[in-house]
Amino acid sequence: MYPAELTSPYVDRFSTAAGQRYKALGIERDDPDRSMKVAALNSEAFGAPVVLFCYLDQTMGPGQWGDAGMHLQTVMLLLRAEGLHSCPQVMWTMYRKTVSQVVGADDGLELFCGVAVGFEKEGVPPLRTGRADMTETISFIGM
Ligand SMILES: Cc1cc2nc3c(=O)[nH]c(=O)nc-3n(C[C@H](O)[C@H](O)[C@H](O)COP(=O)(O)O)c2cc1C
Repeated sequence: MYPAELTSPYVDRFSTAAGQRYKALGIERDDPDRSMKVAALNSEAFGAPVVLFCYLDQTMGPGQWGDAGMHLQTVMLLLRAEGLHSCPQVMWTMYRKTVSQVVGADDGLELFCGVAVGFEKEGVPPLRTGRADMTETISFIGM
């Protein structure tokens, strides 16, 4: 799902965000069953009733993977406009063979990710992960 050698600062941001996200869902970092609980929540699509699966033709390169990300962002914004929420889940790629059998994906397609879709559960505090400061992630040139 991720580069084998994920280096700093990416690995640190990833770890911080995962810690915040799963703590908010009631899973502590030192919980011995953490990975199993995380996998279970993910495979239940966090309770969402619908999962969209986004595929690309295997011949596509990095530019087109970027296009797919932009496309999905638009889908997610349109879902918000309809009052729905969503959560991209790259973890489905770990089970890509099974997912492809279930959805009947043609040979030659590569699973990018799933997107869980549903209405927000009322009364549950919003789970928002932190963001690195813009000055850390963006270089403004000539300003
Ligand atoms: C392409 C992509 C794949 C992701 N895959 C997963 C995943 O498999 N499991 C997971 O718990 N979060 C995953 N995330 C993170 C969440 O979907 C979400 O973006 C993150 O928790 C931030 O949520 P927030 O914007 O509500 O703070 C993924 C995010 C992206 C953009």
